[in-house]
Amino acid sequence: MSENHPNRGSPCSAVVGLQWGDEGKGKIVDLIAPEHDAVARYNGGANAGHSVVVKGQRFSLHLIPSGILYPSKLAVIGNGVVLDPDKLQEEIDGLRSRGIDASGLIVSSRAHVVMPYHKAEDAAREDSLKNERLAREGDQTSAVSEIGTTRRGIGPAYAEKVQRAGAVRVGDLLDPASLPEKISIAIATKRAALADQPGAAEVLDEAKVTQWALRAGEAIRPLVQDTAYLLNNLVRAGKKILFESANGTLLDVDHGTYPFVTGSSCSVGGIGPGTGVPVQRVGRVIGVMKAYSTRVGSGPMPTELVGPGPDGQIGDRIRTRGREFGTTTGRPRRVGWLDLVAVRYAAMINGATGLALTMLDVLAGFDSVRVCTKYESDGKQSDRFLPDSATLSAVRPVYTEFQGFSEDVSAAKSRRELPVQARAYIEFIEQAVGIPVEIVSVGPDRAQTMTT
Ligand code: GDP
Ligand code: IMO
Ligand code: MG
Repeated sequence: MSENHPNRGSPCSAVVGLQWGDEGKGKIVDLIAPEHDAVARYNGGANAGHSVVVKGQRFSLHLIPSGILYPSKLAVIGNGVVLDPDKLQEEIDGLRSRGIDASGLIVSSRAHVVMPYHKAEDAAREDSLKNERLAREGDQTSAVSEIGTTRRGIGPAYAEKVQRAGAVRVGDLLDPASLPEKISIAIATKRAALADQPGAAEVLDEAKVTQWALRAGEAIRPLVQDTAYLLNNLVRAGKKILFESANGTLLDVDHGTYPFVTGSSCSVGGIGPGTGVPVQRVGRVIGVMKAYSTRVGSGPMPTELVGPGPDGQIGDRIRTRGREFGTTTGRPRRVGWLDLVAVRYAAMINGATGLALTMLDVLAGFDSVRVCTKYESDGKQSDRFLPDSATLSAVRPVYTEFQGFSEDVSAAKSRRELPVQARAYIEFIEQAVGIPVEIVSVGPDRAQTMTT
């Protein structure tokens, strides 16, 4: 291999979520972005909500990579993202109004567009699943449930991409000659299913939707590029790219708790298809995990703390202390003890090279904290995760109990300053997952982070 071959070395990094999303990926991306030249999103869409807090100022990013707060970095929305142009414009305007220079933003011409009818379809499917669930209430054999999507049109937009004929990509928004036909094909396939939905006339009006799409195209035109060439040329020039995942590995369409997952590949496996940069350029994979578990929407969660008894009270306390309400939808997040069976599995799927542990501060004040190390099912114990909702629903968590810590750790500057019980908790995680905890986060702010 020649000296200059881009396969030499693996200069890029990835930040991925090892749980069900909201692990604090935005904060970690913001933290390590300075070591990189560009930050690229490769999956998901406006279902994501990534928070970055700098000197008390909170930024909530949905489509724009969290590296945008550094004016010298490129912020690239890759082809694997499903793009809602209205949400993107809202986000750009929001950043500009707060004095953030968004001129480094670039959008792939091959990213698929979330169209108005995709959002209507998402809502219609969820409503219909909910009605089916209610109709079967009391039937213990039924697993029917709404997914609890963000209703941002994510699943229908990815489905359209795979169905092809009526799909609209960002590049198509710039082509008034071919765009109307694509929209017409898409609408024709949806008319029957959406006809009775509220607001259907609007999203099924070809002329209106086409006008909206052309306007969106004009607004986005200056940002559009072939990002596969852009990113690969950066790598060839010796630059470093940071890939930012949306959602979480346990929501990955292939490796998550199917069918209660999102529509994309959230693990590092999504980087190749979602950007065109071969995954072997990624040498460092930081898996972000909370010190406990959360989940939004339906689906199994073996360590969930719920119910009228003490478990539910602990869950409520963690939810309140951790402000566990969705960045995108505001929904209360389901809360549970740390599930190391799940985290170990997610680290394996991603080939994680290091961990970033967030929300450690939230666990302060508990007499004891628990960690799930095995699952029990049919009287047998196993340390294997079960990425299928029916089988995972049947397991019982096996816990290891730790002494809690009462001290407020949110001002700690290094691991040495943490109470001994907190250090023991971190070391246990490192041993169980088999990789080092490189970053410990003890509060939302950029400054509330330790790397030593
Ligand atoms: P993401 O989707 O993975 O980027 O995570 P979100 O931003 O949706 O959710 C994480 C939430 O926790 C945000 O409100 C962050 O500001 C906050 N956060 C991040 N790290 C910490 C931490 O270590 N402690 C506390 N208390 N909050 C944190
Ligand atoms: P970030 O990037 C938490 C969940 C939804 C739902 C399921 C499918 O902020 O971590 P979708 O709208 O994608 O079809 O919903 O996935 N979900 C997330 N949960 N954080 C996210 O993103 C999520 N993105 C999707 O709640 O259960
Ligand atoms: Mg989030």
